[in-house]
Amino acid sequence: MTLESAQDSALPESAPLPASTGSEWWRTAVIYQVYPRSFADSDGDGIGDLKGIESRLPALAELGIDAIWLSPFFRSPQKDAGYDVSDYCDVDPLFGTLDDFDRMLATAHSLGLKVIADMVPNHTSDQHVWFQEALASPEGSPERDRYMFRDGKGPTGDIPPNNWESVFGGPMWERVTRPDGTPGQWYLHIFDTSQPDLNWENPWVREKFEDILRFWLDRGVDGFRVDVAHGMIKQAGLPDYTPPETGASMGGLVVDDSVLAPAIQDPPAPIPDPPYWGQEGVHDIWRGWHDVLAAYEGDRVLCAEAWVDPLEKVALWVRPDEMSQAFNFGYMFTDWKAPALKRIITESLKAFTEVGAPSTWVLSNHDVVRHASRLALTADSPQGAGIGPKSPGKPNEAVGLRRARAATSLMLALPGSSYIYQGEELGLPEDMELPDSARQDPTWFRTHGEKYGRDGCRVPIPWEADRPAFGFNHTGDSWLPQPADWGRFARDAQVGVPGSTLELYTLALRLRREHLLASGAVQWLKGYGRSVVAFRNGDITVIANLGKVAVELPVGQVLLASETITGGALPTDTTVWIRS
Ligand code: NOJ
Ligand code: MG
Repeated sequence: MTLESAQDSALPESAPLPASTGSEWWRTAVIYQVYPRSFADSDGDGIGDLKGIESRLPALAELGIDAIWLSPFFRSPQKDAGYDVSDYCDVDPLFGTLDDFDRMLATAHSLGLKVIADMVPNHTSDQHVWFQEALASPEGSPERDRYMFRDGKGPTGDIPPNNWESVFGGPMWERVTRPDGTPGQWYLHIFDTSQPDLNWENPWVREKFEDILRFWLDRGVDGFRVDVAHGMIKQAGLPDYTPPETGASMGGLVVDDSVLAPAIQDPPAPIPDPPYWGQEGVHDIWRGWHDVLAAYEGDRVLCAEAWVDPLEKVALWVRPDEMSQAFNFGYMFTDWKAPALKRIITESLKAFTEVGAPSTWVLSNHDVVRHASRLALTADSPQGAGIGPKSPGKPNEAVGLRRARAATSLMLALPGSSYIYQGEELGLPEDMELPDSARQDPTWFRTHGEKYGRDGCRVPIPWEADRPAFGFNHTGDSWLPQPADWGRFARDAQVGVPGSTLELYTLALRLRREHLLASGAVQWLKGYGRSVVAFRNGDITVIANLGKVAVELPVGQVLLASETITGGALPTDTTVWIRS
């Protein structure tokens, strides 16, 4: 064994404690993302549903999480898996009924789990009555003003109003046809054509959404994850915009290539946000929403999906009178390199502490390649592009899983809140072999197959190895086919099995609670090499070895290890929690 000894002097010894020691539950919570269509299917139609979720809540309570966030289950034509809502105050029949929701919520609460709904305010479905009324109303009417309609350019108006490109590929504008059959105005859609953007400068839209929030708060939800919380206000005049050549586009967060580089010496210069992301006007909306939630008893959470850069800008979303949490996507996309991780952790704690908010750590969700695969990719895979049969640089499964276990063990030891995505507690990899005929992500269609999209992280999860659809349902149907060998990841193959990923998560969540890690602080430890992340949080020493050379462990009781430890040495891609 070779010991590493080089000092890491670039970082401060300790990261500061949050300025506010507010007691709100979400500051320290571990929140489990349920992707309803792929979690558990009670009626066997191949699509998960609310009754299915309810039936599996005891398993989540056993895992030791604090809350669940449900991706959208509202009425929707399902053109973007429910992120195209046609009625915000009803449950889509695919998922059940409002009564099913109420029962699921009551069961969750009785198990001590909070429930967060997913609000999608940037756009509606094109089937929403508001949009249908807008289409049926004359140009310039109040109904049209609910959305972003503009005249086209050129003598016949057949050139889109500007050059913006949709996140899913192709132009961000679609032209409508007038009732008399002649071509009319264009409407803006940051995502699919079936997802027209609302006009948030219009007070009518603001009022409607505050009512929608109250509808769900009255039913008892504990808060909202807010979709595209960075996109709702567009720069005045909708100026043309050409994205920078370099950098990986992360659904809005454009990260300079140097963020992805092995070792960062200086923070990358932030690239200015495009005219449709991160505009100052969104903050006024959040102040209004903050007040809506504050009128209810108890602590409710607003969690921003805000793909903006740098972290100091993300922190603006969680100022005391705005939202509560904002996903730390910069952390999510940090390479599996110790210097980069240490830097982003330090910068995150600093940026969020300055506004009195916790950092909200996350490694996987329904939009990104699962981290059990992503962390071992050997070729670039820009966010949203996904990985499929023909992708270069596919990860080695064992390396990916090992890194994922180490990465999660590191994340769950950090102060603040953490989100985990269904299936990661089973060590699920990305499904990289989905047949093209099964794909459903609009990205696949809008890029004409150039990008595989996000289906690979959305495959229904396995519960019981020997049941149809691995226990996802009783019929074996599955809206995306499950890989034939996923029985090895099934929950029942892992419960009570020492060293399984499920047991690792369960232990980490219990110890995190017992040792108050989420309300602690990071104190960096010196004397470890550049490939090691080592810090103290309360009475726990956390050491993650990202290098190839084993690292000698300090004296103390090993409470958690992401791989088996022998001979007092921490092997590669392993994290350990030690009490000393
Ligand atoms: C972000 C959601 O997480 C993603 O799944 C969706 O496609 C877009 N927003 C559009 O709503
Ligand atoms: Mg079903």
